Amino acid sequence: MKRKIGILGGTFDPIHCGHMIVARAAMEQFGLDEVRFMTGGNPPHKRGRGVTDALTRHRMVCCAVRGEPGFAADDLEVNKKTYSYTAETLAGLKEKLGGAEIYFIAGEDSLRELPGWYEPERILESCVLLVYPRTEPETLDALIAERRSALGGDIRKIDAPLFGVSSTDIRERIAAGLSVKYIVPDGVIEYIESKGLYKKERTKTAAMDEKEMKKKLASSLKKKRYKHSIGVSREAARMAKLFGADEKKAYIAGLLHDCAKGLDRNEQLDICKKYNVTADEATALCPPVLHAPAGAALAEHEYGIADPEILDAIRYHTVARRDMTLLDKIVYVADMTEPGRDYDGVETLRKLSEIDIDRAYFEALSRSLMFNLSKKTIIHPNTLEAWNAVLASGRGGE
Ligand SMILES: [Fe+2]
Ligand SMILES: [Fe+2]
Repeated sequence: MKRKIGILGGTFDPIHCGHMIVARAAMEQFGLDEVRFMTGGNPPHKRGRGVTDALTRHRMVCCAVRGEPGFAADDLEVNKKTYSYTAETLAGLKEKLGGAEIYFIAGEDSLRELPGWYEPERILESCVLLVYPRTEPETLDALIAERRSALGGDIRKIDAPLFGVSSTDIRERIAAGLSVKYIVPDGVIEYIESKGLYKKERTKTAAMDEKEMKKKLASSLKKKRYKHSIGVSREAARMAKLFGADEKKAYIAGLLHDCAKGLDRNEQLDICKKYNVTADEATALCPPVLHAPAGAALAEHEYGIADPEILDAIRYHTVARRDMTLLDKIVYVADMTEPGRDYDGVETLRKLSEIDIDRAYFEALSRSLMFNLSKKTIIHPNTLEAWNAVLASGRGGE
């Protein structure tokens, strides 16, 4: 009989008890012989965003699975320098595991985004997809039924309890000197403490207060650009309040989104080099987008922003990305609706931004694409992926 292997992939920065609970629940419910925790590698686009390096994250996973029957740490992705699509990873795993039956464990949010993934049908052909809930179990049942009828495949629900703490929360707790006992496995806590993880990272550059940030920003941007940044920060905070995102984070991300815009192209490239940010080929070919990754690096290292969500919202404010978070969308839209903006259609977009963030984001994305097409400029693959993901998720409206 074929062995039944569960695969739980993740960034694991750090691994926490929520991962352990899901893995154990999947193992018991589906009679898995083993669950392998596969730490994601160091994809170039994430460099400089403050993600702990893959080997350290993998070591934390090793600490977590030690002494846990049937759990193992898998290093297949750890040393890879390029991003691997899930479909490719699964094919590699099948080969590595000698044709075992693969049970791929994913969260409800991943299932929601699945149609926008690379080759979703191929993913479903090569594994049984086990999904754990992030919201109410009934919502997940409906989503599974919908995905099954649209994509086929064997998708099943893991009856695991909801775990409301994320790795981001954990990093913030550690940075604030709070305990993560009962949230993170004891062995992992010991490892984190012995290496001074998260604490050190967050104190590397002391975060500025708002006044200091504005002073530094005002001195590095032209007056008009500074006014635009203030407009985006206020607009982002307004939307955050309306749509349930963190107002402070939205405000800061909006304020700093163009912080590298005052630099010329060579200076932006120098910043990327200095802080180990790889500008991908498409970014190199469309110079106007370089200020976004350079801005994220500046925000992190020179404005002391440690929050990865804020840094991502800055990083993706020009080209977007496939899995836009609520904060990403808010900053993306605010950039186009702040009071200083004046173009045909801005009022329509402003109205949408008062009603529905997804529709506003889709409208903004579509305007940006059309603008690029009309100018016959390179379209960054992220933007196309973002566009396809919205349509595939059925949230494109009309
Ligand atoms: Fe910008
Ligand atoms: Fe902007």
